[in-house]
Amino acid sequence: RQNERESLLIVLNFAKTFFQEALQKSDEGKSIGLSYFRERGLTNPTIDAFELGYSFDQWDALMQEGTRRGYNRDLLEKAGLVINKESEAGGNHKVFDRFRGRVMFPIHNVSGRVIAFGARILKTDKNQPKYLNSPETTVYHKSQVLYGIYQAKQTIRQEDICYLTEGYTDVISLHQAGIKNVVASSGTSLTTEQIRLIARFTPNVTILYDGDAAGIKAALRGLDMVLEEGLNLKLLLLPDGEDPDSYVHKVGAEAFKAYVKTESKDFIDFKAGQWLAEAGDDPLKRAEGISDVCASITRIPDPLKRQTLSQRVAQVFHVSEQSVISEINRLLRKQQ
Ligand code: UTP
Ligand code: MN
Ligand code: MN
Ligand code: MN
Ligand code: MN
Repeated sequence: RQNERESLLIVLNFAKTFFQEALQKSDEGKSIGLSYFRERGLTNPTIDAFELGYSFDQWDALMQEGTRRGYNRDLLEKAGLVINKESEAGGNHKVFDRFRGRVMFPIHNVSGRVIAFGARILKTDKNQPKYLNSPETTVYHKSQVLYGIYQAKQTIRQEDICYLTEGYTDVISLHQAGIKNVVASSGTSLTTEQIRLIARFTPNVTILYDGDAAGIKAALRGLDMVLEEGLNLKLLLLPDGEDPDSYVHKVGAEAFKAYVKTESKDFIDFKAGQWLAEAGDDPLKRAEGISDVCASITRIPDPLKRQTLSQRVAQVFHVSEQSVISEINRLLRKQQ
């Protein structure tokens, strides 16, 4: 078992280097992959720090080089690098590279070993997913991984806060802008394991999700889970249609930092803001909003924190603290 893990890590490292060399040394890689990263404003140190690469637009470039180096097909398949459709009916032998003609984002574990890849298509094509990702393997459990944790962990400790984004390029562009304490949940909805990974380095999390309907939904879903793990949470939605990557390129590093500083809201303000915008003067909607914010407070394990936050809810919604406390207690009883 240990042997299989190590073999997979070795073949994944080979693939990473193969993709890096393709990006930096081949004509195809330079003219397609490198110029793509340039257009997105990424510099060489950033490309190196995240070990970005390029996969050739061929059926089996990686498999050929891999088998030449002594990595057999079975291992390449177990690493998620090769797809084997041999077993399918028809007897048509089909074994081919999973990642072809895409820019490559290696996914590292906390100690910096490559365990998987994300791969972005270069031109929008509605018949193909924008990003292809490695499947679950012996070394890659998607729900336990945060993209960028290896590059971010030292700064997360130093700054004692972690910014949580949605995507690969958000992590990379913020890192380049000097904000290095950033990770991404990579499109999946946030998991408890991912939150516990952050908690190893800091108790403070700020969610920085895309300014679209999907981003709001994901933020609201992630919110309760972060509270449940006892972490301190702030949230910030990017302006409509922007994500951290596009916005930092638009306004620059300093303005972005200022924006985060002034616009981050604690979860009560964030949720109340959403509810009050929707409710207007509708008293029933407001009551629903209060109950919803109280429901999030019940997720917090520390009773003292729950108590002080009740005061804030009362202020924000202009109701008595006692009514907030009794709503929280009602919800807590219901959960038992
Ligand atoms: P986004 O659609 O916000 O992509 O998805 P992005 O990161 O801003 O990508 P760019 O800027 O267009 O390159 C957020 C994350 O969701 C995952 C990826 O991890 C992506 O970074 N995702 C998205 C997928 O895994 N597959 C997809 O097809 C799309
Ligand atoms: Mn495992
Ligand atoms: Mn999005
Ligand atoms: Mn983006
Ligand atoms: Mn995005």
